[in-house]
Amino acid sequence: MSKDQRNMKPNLKTLVILVSFAVVLIIKVNATTGDYIRPPPRRNLQFPWSPKHSSHPQQVHISLAGDKHMRVTWITDDKSAPAVVKYGTSPGKYNSLAEGESTSYSYLFYNSGKIHHTVIGPLEDDTVYYYQCGGKGPEFKFKTPPSEFPITFAVAGDLGQTGWTKSTLDHIDQCKYDVHMLPGDLSYADYIQSRWDTFGELVQPLASARPWMVTQGNHEKEHIPLIKEAFASYNARWKMPYEESGSNSNLYYSFDVAGAHIVMLGSYTDYDQYSDQYSWLKADLAKVDRERTPWLLALFHVPWYNSNEAHQGEGDDMMASMEPLLYAAGVDIVLAGHVHAYERSQRVYNGRSDPCGAVHITIGDGGNREGLAHRFKNQQPEWSVFREASFGHGELKIVNSTHAFWSWHRNDDDEQVRSDQVWITTLRNSGCIAEKGHVMRKILLGP
Ligand SMILES: [Fe+2]
Repeated sequence: MSKDQRNMKPNLKTLVILVSFAVVLIIKVNATTGDYIRPPPRRNLQFPWSPKHSSHPQQVHISLAGDKHMRVTWITDDKSAPAVVKYGTSPGKYNSLAEGESTSYSYLFYNSGKIHHTVIGPLEDDTVYYYQCGGKGPEFKFKTPPSEFPITFAVAGDLGQTGWTKSTLDHIDQCKYDVHMLPGDLSYADYIQSRWDTFGELVQPLASARPWMVTQGNHEKEHIPLIKEAFASYNARWKMPYEESGSNSNLYYSFDVAGAHIVMLGSYTDYDQYSDQYSWLKADLAKVDRERTPWLLALFHVPWYNSNEAHQGEGDDMMASMEPLLYAAGVDIVLAGHVHAYERSQRVYNGRSDPCGAVHITIGDGGNREGLAHRFKNQQPEWSVFREASFGHGELKIVNSTHAFWSWHRNDDDEQVRSDQVWITTLRNSGCIAEKGHVMRKILLGP
């Protein structure tokens, strides 16, 4: 062997190693991101100040508030503005009136406007209503959800208020949906209270027209020890039907719509088996009648099944405590946020695929300023079916008492592209619930 050949040998070896490394890298990148080039985060939107009359209703949004009722929430600068909603089924003709409650809060040097919550009803199902907040001002309209299937939910978590948020909201606006569900992290106010106001204005066109059912994430905490309790702003602004569902906290509640029972849980409030949330969940699930509500869903912020490097293991404690309850009740679908990417699982329980477990979907990719969680674990777990780090939103169409169609719509630049879709059948007819009857009784109802 010549001297030159001896010198080439290590170089060739290095080359082979480098090429192998590049191939592995390409396979890894393709495995997690496909051929789509992920966009960078976009800036927070600018909201130019425009003068308004002090009684002008701002940040109008609606939420389901018990059977055939809707809560209308809005804010006025005028502290003496009444919490009155006039409404009817024809434009400009309001033959019904309801009066609600008002609140306000201070946060360091910030003083909120008057926050009004007024429950209206009883309302007809699947009907357009026209309404006016405070007894005067602009007219808004909403449609009540249907009483029967089909029903469509729009789902987007970790929204924020950036250019990507706007893109996601535009796409949701194009979809024919009945109820919006948000598994936490709304405004990304993060202690700067005026951001709650701009977020409220940003979502008003959608949230005043269809009910927005939300649960809270870490960005809603805004806790300042000894000065400000956690979730104070969130609770004041986004009141959900917790009293209507027998809960003593706005941080966890449930609601029925069409033939679905939906449980909204709090990832940042106590969830151990001695906690109020656990007791409430157990009692709530024990009351579910799958003949009346064949579909059972749960939403919370921190995912239990997550193969992204981001927020790895953060949901483990809550999962250890509460997953047996959801399993015993036969929850069909769990929707979570927090991780800024999309991932869908098989039916899964206790860390493994299980035909009687829930389908877990992480959809924390609404478009906030923190950007995407690009890095998935190299080894895709056996329960993970689809994962991708892109902004987007989901649509769940429950077609009938047995079948639902889930789709995830990626924000491909500013176009929406349906990138994942699956038919899901409810557990009601699977035999899981009947087989687990004794387990259910033991776990949900006690010995
Ligand atoms: Fe989060």
